[in-house]
Amino acid sequence: MKQKLKFAILGFGSRGRMFARLIEQDSEAELVAIADVAESARKAAQEQFGLAKSQCFTSGDAFLDQGKCCDAIFICVQDAEHYALTMRALDLGYDICLEKPAAANAEQCKEIRDKALRLGRKVMLTHVLRYSPFYQCIRQKIMDGSLGEVVHIDQTENIAYWHFALSYVRGPWRNMEDSTPTIIAKCCHDLDLLLWLTGRHCVSVSSYGGLYYFNPEHAPAGSSTYCAECQKETKEKCLFNAYKVYPEFMKTMVVGGTAAYEGEDINSLLDHHVEPISRCVFHSLNDAVDHQSVNLEFDNGSTAHLTMCAFTQRCYRYVKVFGTKGEIEGDLDTNLLTFTQFGKEPQVIDATKDGGFNQDGIALNDGHGGGDYYLYRDFVDYLTSDKPSLTRTTIKESIESHLVGFAAEESRLQGGKPIVLDPLKE
Ligand SMILES: NC(=O)c1ccc[n+]([C@@H]2O[C@H](COP(=O)([O-])OP(=O)(O)OC[C@H]3O[C@@H](n4cnc5c(N)ncnc54)[C@H](O)[C@@H]3O)[C@@H](O)[C@H]2O)c1
Repeated sequence: MKQKLKFAILGFGSRGRMFARLIEQDSEAELVAIADVAESARKAAQEQFGLAKSQCFTSGDAFLDQGKCCDAIFICVQDAEHYALTMRALDLGYDICLEKPAAANAEQCKEIRDKALRLGRKVMLTHVLRYSPFYQCIRQKIMDGSLGEVVHIDQTENIAYWHFALSYVRGPWRNMEDSTPTIIAKCCHDLDLLLWLTGRHCVSVSSYGGLYYFNPEHAPAGSSTYCAECQKETKEKCLFNAYKVYPEFMKTMVVGGTAAYEGEDINSLLDHHVEPISRCVFHSLNDAVDHQSVNLEFDNGSTAHLTMCAFTQRCYRYVKVFGTKGEIEGDLDTNLLTFTQFGKEPQVIDATKDGGFNQDGIALNDGHGGGDYYLYRDFVDYLTSDKPSLTRTTIKESIESHLVGFAAEESRLQGGKPIVLDPLKE
């Protein structure tokens, strides 16, 4: 009988559990261990996924102390902890599905890439949007020549004011020093997509942006350092009142960082000023930028522009690809694309219905908008066969797009100075 693939997950928050559900549904794979510093997460692994207490480790390091004891691991801890766990796991012989971003700075990213390549380990970053029917459809139009040559791409990451406040003002990515620059934390997918869609190397990048709104200058009259102390009328009107937003988001845990408060009495945490969720968003410990604009130049003279902005109602991505023979644009939230070949009538394409299969055999009509399922399947294929994939991101490619993001941050900090990249030498 074929041996099941044995997996472990380090970091059993929202992403870790999503992978656990996919492993559970896969008859040829088995979750043999998890590691999480939070007792509530270890309890969830036992109660919801049937793991024994002995299979639930109190930290990623405690799991790695056992040596190599399964086929591959998923690293789903927060950004700042990716590097140390990944470097240790590579030494132990693990292949890894590594949550984005690979690491907190450019040097660490390069070290992970170089070690993985030197030791011949398979490391796949979770660039899940590559697998979404929406971006698969766009890539197919580029690859089959329908658009002619791609001259420019405009990509917008509409973060949504509520998501920004939860994750980037009061959440795990609020402080860039302790996590990663916002352009990496929020947009490394977008940068990866820009390189993957064009198939080009980025040779120069420039960027502007900053923290415009979530600061004391914008605090409303009657606000206080903590929501608990805010005046009643101000609290009632406030879009970011923690007493209103946290109970709502805790129901779904879809926003990163909420796992830390699982099973807790949120009102009591807020009454006791527990950091960082109890803070007023205008008096927080945050420096994550709330808007940033990035310009990229590719090695064939084509260009791309990426906008990241907190000030939107909905959380979604918008993209427009400008080709010499046509254009395609759309909104990932709706999965609708408008495709126009110059001189012909525009066509509206529903990416979840149109197109059948792409070159990798990925079903575009599956309706699995997020792409996590395909990403998981691709990781399994990577581990078990030499089947090539046009969608999979290699560690080399992922780090290349990460380095564009770190260069964008360097440019932003230098007032928009263009940073020249040499991707073939980096
Ligand atoms: N691919 C994507 O589209 C995508 C989407 C969201 C988040 N992410 C990334 O996934 C990672 C996890 O995000 P999340 O939303 O699941 O966060 P989360 O906070 O819900 O989960 C992280 C978990 O790691 C645990 N943890 C912290 N330190 C640990 C350690 N040393 N050992 C073991 N466990 C530890 C925490 O207790 C928590 O349960 C982050 O790096 C994030 O940037 C990727």
